Amino acid sequence: MLDHKTNKLLCKVDADTPMGQLMRRYWQPISAVSELSRNPLKSIRLMGEDLVLYKDLSGNYGLVDRHCPHRRADMKFGFRETCGLRCSYHGWLFDNTGACVSQPFEETDDLKGRFKEKIRIKAYPVEVKGGLVWAYLGPDPVPLVPNYEPFEWENGFIQIVFSEIPCNWFQCQENSIDPVHFEWMHSNWAAGQTGDTKSYAPTHLKVDFEEIEHGIVYKRIRADTNEANPLWTVGRNCLWPNSLFTGNHFEWRVPIDDRNTLSVGWFYNPVPQDMRPFKQDEIPSWRSPVTDAQTGEWITSHVMNQDFAAWVGQGEMADRSKEHLGRSDRGVIMMRKRFLDDLERIKNGQDPKAVYRDLATQGRIDLPIFDREYLATGPTRAEVNDPNFKNARYFKKFIYQVGQPEAIWADYCAAMGTT
Ligand code: FES
Ligand SMILES: [Fe+2]
Repeated sequence: MLDHKTNKLLCKVDADTPMGQLMRRYWQPISAVSELSRNPLKSIRLMGEDLVLYKDLSGNYGLVDRHCPHRRADMKFGFRETCGLRCSYHGWLFDNTGACVSQPFEETDDLKGRFKEKIRIKAYPVEVKGGLVWAYLGPDPVPLVPNYEPFEWENGFIQIVFSEIPCNWFQCQENSIDPVHFEWMHSNWAAGQTGDTKSYAPTHLKVDFEEIEHGIVYKRIRADTNEANPLWTVGRNCLWPNSLFTGNHFEWRVPIDDRNTLSVGWFYNPVPQDMRPFKQDEIPSWRSPVTDAQTGEWITSHVMNQDFAAWVGQGEMADRSKEHLGRSDRGVIMMRKRFLDDLERIKNGQDPKAVYRDLATQGRIDLPIFDREYLATGPTRAEVNDPNFKNARYFKKFIYQVGQPEAIWADYCAAMGTT
């Protein structure tokens, strides 16, 4: 259990808070390349800051203050130029470093004027990796965008899914180090929703947690597995500072502000050996709802939607002074402690955990990968069409989030060669 002060310390992400400063030391995925292809100018709220993300007419990305420094007009109504974004109110133009490069009337009225040299709009670096658009809101020197090894995998169907969750990011990330919820939430409760109230999943017998360079690995033994099973020998990864990596997918919990989180899912499915080579022109992305449009009820039919319901159920900002942590929560305790330790490291001028700076040794981040062999070699086309195949669930529907566009499912089925 945490006191109120420590609870708030871990949760709050505005720029003037310790955790806000810690989270600004990391690149955050905020959109997808394909999302910007469809809509090259969009408003973004990130860690309590209102911003506008755009792709200019030269194809460069920019992330600037939502409000123009002239008279505060909304840059979301700006227009994209060859180099940067022009405010639609009086035409001031800003490049993606934040420099004001044109002030039409000021320059006409005072040919020798140097007013624009004094003007900047707040601007942050943007990079692209794995089909995601990443932003860095922290101090120089800017670290490397984490190049996790799955971003370099080929022959997979990848898709990116976004959802907005109305609760604090930290309780979402605590879910990344919580093995036992899988048995109850995603197995027993999920089965109960389909009318099956009798069959219970194999129980967890043992869990363990191990800190690695990139996060904390969690391992489990269930009644149907033993210490030779990859659930124990490899485990799953709680990545720093705000991601879960299970082997075939990542889930980031990106703080929009103290009371809202952007869930960013990155899903990889290997295409069958006999359907290779396979290459996507662009990684598709889509937005997934969290509540039913008709009833307003939380959707709980899909794996991550079940998680979302759990997180929101903990309250807008979970009150950890009222918790009772048990032996299954050792990973949660490790995670909180490491963040609190890192706040001290930052005070001492050190980097927090898993900030990558050395291209030679950290240019690619290799991870413990559950079912690595399957992900590398893929199934056969016959297996994909076999209802008894061990991974058959991946070929019946998209299991993780609700509302996948039909066109993406059709492209997926074509890539997989499902009949
Ligand atoms: S408010 Fe943006 S140019 Fe005037
Ligand atoms: Fe879950």
